[in-house]
Amino acid sequence: MTGWLEGNVALITGGGSGLGRAVAERFLDEGASVVVADRDPAKLSELVESAGGRADRIHTVEADVRSTADQHRAVSEAVARFGKLDTLVPNAGIWDYQRSITRLDGESLSAAFDELFAINVKGYLLAVEAAWRELVKTRGSIVMTLSNSAFYPNGGGPLYTASKHACRGLVLELAYELAPKVRVNGVAAGGMRTDLRGPESMGMADRSIETSFARSATTGDNPLLPLHDASVDPADFTAPYVLLASSANSSNITGAIIPVDGGIAARGFRTAAGGDDL
Ligand SMILES: NC(=O)c1ccc[n+]([C@@H]2O[C@H](COP(=O)([O-])OP(=O)(O)OC[C@H]3O[C@@H](n4cnc5c(N)ncnc54)[C@H](O)[C@@H]3O)[C@@H](O)[C@H]2O)c1
Repeated sequence: MTGWLEGNVALITGGGSGLGRAVAERFLDEGASVVVADRDPAKLSELVESAGGRADRIHTVEADVRSTADQHRAVSEAVARFGKLDTLVPNAGIWDYQRSITRLDGESLSAAFDELFAINVKGYLLAVEAAWRELVKTRGSIVMTLSNSAFYPNGGGPLYTASKHACRGLVLELAYELAPKVRVNGVAAGGMRTDLRGPESMGMADRSIETSFARSATTGDNPLLPLHDASVDPADFTAPYVLLASSANSSNITGAIIPVDGGIAARGFRTAAGGDDL
């Protein structure tokens, strides 16, 4: 049986762990060749070592998504190694550990804004700037990792929520600007167990979201979300990426965002946050 992405060449930023890595592995399963750009060389080596017989369809690039030179090098290496680029997945990101405005002073807010937006927003835009010319040649597509935080509060603090709303804007604007040759879509993923880190400027570079999930008790027959609790496996989020990367199956879809979040939109009213404690 052939996969949905047979012959596709995809570049995934932040594919060294978590969701990006799960997408890379799923794309390999579907027949694609993948280029993974990540700032952590240990994660890149581990990805290649665990790839077994599929290692010849993986190319890794040590890159920081805040650097336009690194982003262009990733695209050049993709084309040099596999001959073209069909799919770009801007995905590398960090979280703000839901640090609310009431717990940030102006100086730390300013520094964390610059760091988080440089990775979560500028990193996506620089990836597109580096890749769009190659994507035009292949009539390819872009699939951005968004979040429930691109639509709803309380999936982060104001910094993370604003960054993911900004990326929702990028999906729409870039879908408009790159049509009809390049499609641009997004996947609004809900919470999952990954190694998602926080801003270095907030002293959170070594914190991992995995420990937050490990601390919070699973909710059994009263799940946090309509379909399940929040701590799902990243592999459960990868199918929409395959659909949106496959020109044979989504050639008429652009500017769309698929929510994969356990049904947040269907959970109804909950309590207000601040209340009398403010
Ligand atoms: N974990 C969740 O609950 C969740 C939910 C919704 C959306 N997301 C989004 O998924 C995406 C992937 O995050 P994840 O949860 O898989 O976390 P993760 O930390 O496991 O993976 C992110 C990867 O990005 C890399 N990275 C971080 N900053 C980078 C930079 N400046 N340059 C290059 N690489 C960099 C990291 O080394 C890491 O390998 C992010 O955009 C995140 O916002 C995560």
